[in-house]
Amino acid sequence: MPQPIVIKYFLGTDKTLYLFFGHTEKILRDANKLTISTSAHRGQQARMQTLKLNYPVHTLDAKELFAAGSMLSHEAFQQARLKYPPLASVFYSFLKHGSVCNDLQDMMGQPPYDTIYGDTDDREAVLAVLARSRVQPIVLDSLDYFRQFDCNTYRHMLMVFALSLLLARHFAVPGRDLEQEILSAGPTHDLGKICVPLPILRKSTPITAHERRHLKHHTVAGFALLAWYSGDVHAPAARIARDHHERSNGTGYPEGKKLSDILVEIIAACDIYDALISPRPYRPISFDNRTALEELTELAGKNYLSGEIIQLLVALNRKNKPSAKTCVVSLERRGTPPAENNYGVTVADDDQPATAQKSPTVSPL
Ligand SMILES: [Fe+2]
Ligand SMILES: [Fe+2]
Repeated sequence: MPQPIVIKYFLGTDKTLYLFFGHTEKILRDANKLTISTSAHRGQQARMQTLKLNYPVHTLDAKELFAAGSMLSHEAFQQARLKYPPLASVFYSFLKHGSVCNDLQDMMGQPPYDTIYGDTDDREAVLAVLARSRVQPIVLDSLDYFRQFDCNTYRHMLMVFALSLLLARHFAVPGRDLEQEILSAGPTHDLGKICVPLPILRKSTPITAHERRHLKHHTVAGFALLAWYSGDVHAPAARIARDHHERSNGTGYPEGKKLSDILVEIIAACDIYDALISPRPYRPISFDNRTALEELTELAGKNYLSGEIIQLLVALNRKNKPSAKTCVVSLERRGTPPAENNYGVTVADDDQPATAQKSPTVSPL
């Protein structure tokens, strides 16, 4: 006689619903080549989210941790750590590395960042927090790599880190120390781009559907690299790398889940803001600050991003620095987005009929 399946659940601190199946292993969902599965271990946290890789995940010194087609299961992580033990307990100062401190100070003091960092107290406070940041060799190696081969990504990784710390300084959530969570994650949200070929990252013309799939791989690749390194699939850095292209309304990737973790929502907002106002290979000029904030306000209105976070971002960009709660955000569009913007434009693969289409998902790369 078949045994009844006992299902238990609880809501995690990250607002994820954890499911426990009493005696079976079951595939719950299979969409966009992603599988979420659960397995039973009585009395233990049994949720195991398993992502399938479309492309390999490797380190900068060419260690292939996970082959294309493999599932990111706990067993796969254990095998990767046995085969390639990481130096996870070694930490170095982030701010003292190479030209990081000078580069950050230069960017904070110049347009377009001098508006949001117009308050000297804010700038000094964020630099003081960054001075406490200790990161692992894998992070410093990725910064060196991008500084040499893709300067836009290097600057973007530094500024998303610095901007998210600024927002965390002004955003209190009971029971959470967001500043510490961001600090512990480090400048890693796009670390997985080391697994994306440089010609794709640097391409100025519209990318093909195949190239877009490869580009999207940076989320799961970053998750895999950071979880392998730390040995913790729930570490803030791993979660941020995996989820920062998810959206509040569930239209993002890689899972298409509704983003509801305020930590990742801060990174996602800073990610798009920085992508709009800084140089990108796929458009000749950047968004000006006002137009970028209007764009973000519209995205929040459509429930792509957290309205609270965008309101704070707008308030911090005002000259008199009002509190986010009293800051009135207009929905009126006055700015003009830059022309010849190839962001989101995908052309068919070489072996497919030639059609160009604009991606409906708002997820700057
Ligand atoms: Fe990204
Ligand atoms: Fe990014």
